[in-house]
Amino acid sequence: MDAVRIAIVTGASSGIGYATAEGLAGAGFTVFGTSRKIKNDGPKGVTMLACDVTDEASVAALVSDVVARAGKIDLLVNNAGIGMFGGAEESSIAQSKALFDVNVFGVMRMTNAVLPVMKRQGGGRILNIGSILGVVPAPYSAHYSAAKHAIEGYTESLDHEIRAFNIRASIIEPAYVRTVFDQNGMKPDQQKAEYDAARAAVAALLRDVMPKADLPDVIVKVVIKAANDRIPRRRYTAGNAARMISLLRRFATSNMFDKTLRKQFRIA
Ligand SMILES: NC(=O)c1ccc[n+]([C@@H]2O[C@H](COP(=O)([O-])OP(=O)(O)OC[C@H]3O[C@@H](n4cnc5c(N)ncnc54)[C@H](OP(=O)(O)O)[C@@H]3O)[C@@H](O)[C@H]2O)c1
Repeated sequence: MDAVRIAIVTGASSGIGYATAEGLAGAGFTVFGTSRKIKNDGPKGVTMLACDVTDEASVAALVSDVVARAGKIDLLVNNAGIGMFGGAEESSIAQSKALFDVNVFGVMRMTNAVLPVMKRQGGGRILNIGSILGVVPAPYSAHYSAAKHAIEGYTESLDHEIRAFNIRASIIEPAYVRTVFDQNGMKPDQQKAEYDAARAAVAALLRDVMPKADLPDVIVKVVIKAANDRIPRRRYTAGNAARMISLLRRFATSNMFDKTLRKQFRIA
């Protein structure tokens, strides 16, 4: 590969994507960040381009534009995503489809669009921003957890297939990160009174943990490592909380794990 590497970061208008785009630019990549609406205050050193990952034509136009400007794509960071928290039965199928359209099919659309470019140039890397909720399904996040679990499976299958083309795919698994993610999330569209207390408990938990959560920079360091590792890992937990939860999941008994999780979510 040439000395200057070209990266696309989806959802670079805020939070983890913003910091990742800026961090990769600082690490020497030429970075194209995306947002559905381009504003003037994008990440430093990053060219912002419009893209809606739920729109096939928008994704195709973005990839053609980057190839026209830079000639290649070495790294794709699939970061764009939205949250949704509430009881599993509080979201309609239509709403769940809308969530999957960004968090799952958006990743697949972007991946399908860059793979021909990466194959043509003889290599590349894809990093999908998953979540610890893709490892541990938590209560009141069934649709979001299901979407992040889908990305876990998709990434691992994909990685087996594309190694033949010198392309690798990995998933990055943060826990809580200090962004506006919870404010930007979808609210369940068929709320039921019997979940009011649970929703309030989750909101209280987020209010508690978010001010102490990892800063996006913690995730950026892991992304840069995953982009540079000569032999990338399939999964990278990002941050202490994610590492602890992942270890607990592996080594604690399932009863103990269950109890700890229910206590955290204040479920009797
Ligand atoms: N924050 C956390 O605690 C946390 C923990 C684990 C994993 N994550 C994951 O990290 C990723 C980034 O989250 P964040 O915390 O940085 O949230 P954020 O600050 O709300 O940023 C979300 C980004 O996604 C973009 N986006 C949303 N819908 C899109 C669409 N249809 N097409 C293109 N872009 C779209 C937004 O861009 P525009 O609105 O400008 O288009 C925005 O830049 C997500 O995948 C999330 O699941 C977050």
